[in-house]
Amino acid sequence: MLSSFLFRTSHLLTLLPYLLSVTAAMASTTNTTTIKLEPFTLSSPPGTDIWRKAPSHNAFNAPTHPSPLPTHKLSSFQRARLTFSLPPGTQLRQYDQAGLLLHLTKPGIPDEKTKWLKTGIEWYYSKPYISTVGCDAWADWSVVPIPSYTSNSSRPSATIEARREKDVLGKSLWVYWIIKREDGTEERIPLREVNWFFAEEEGWSVGVGGYVARPTKDGGDEELGVEFAEGVEVEVLDC
Ligand SMILES: *[C@@H]1O[C@H](CO)[C@@H](O)[C@H](O)[C@H]1NC(C)=O
Ligand SMILES: *[C@@H]1O[C@H](CO)[C@@H](O)[C@H](O)[C@H]1NC(C)=O
Repeated sequence: MLSSFLFRTSHLLTLLPYLLSVTAAMASTTNTTTIKLEPFTLSSPPGTDIWRKAPSHNAFNAPTHPSPLPTHKLSSFQRARLTFSLPPGTQLRQYDQAGLLLHLTKPGIPDEKTKWLKTGIEWYYSKPYISTVGCDAWADWSVVPIPSYTSNSSRPSATIEARREKDVLGKSLWVYWIIKREDGTEERIPLREVNWFFAEEEGWSVGVGGYVARPTKDGGDEELGVEFAEGVEVEVLDC
């Protein structure tokens, strides 16, 4: 039914919360629920970003899907995964980016004090990078090259997963780049461990979805359109 149906959207499309409630499929495993959002495409006009840099820059206007982001209690959040493809490199601009957005909010916390993590692909000096930006007080950014990207006429693509982990020292969010091998198995490349993510959970919510941003306006008004061919998978604890 709707699984083969790609819809184009933007942050202005108010129909989405309704579509989401129709298309979300629930599948129970042991004591968690995995929510599957249907495949979608999402476009962003130029002049959009998610970025917080001292002394006072705070951008948070990138389109997301769903919009607004569906939220979960942070204490129930286990894992989110998505797969996406940008347009071919020949059509990309400096800082074009897309991927997974996790937005931490709490009643009474002002916009400039919310926290977030975005992870996906960013086009940087004519190359795609697997890119992760975490923002507790200020944003910090790390990038990893994509050795398999060998032609600018191909579309940078990736599968990314962010999940809760714990060890004897405590709890954190781990971000992985998932490489699917030909034999169907997966390689999990560690990108980042984020220790502040679950440091305070009481009262916090996490909004989860796909995002697309095209920060630079140089190059005209053309939108950046990104395909999220497997939708978004979110695993939460049953409560
Ligand atoms: C899952 O839920 C059952 C029933 O509530 C409980 O007995 C069991 O310990 C839970 N398992 C885990 C791994 O939390
Ligand atoms: C893509 O184009 C840029 C700029 O011409 C070049 O530096 C880069 O090596 C090209 N990448 C590939 C994979 O061909």
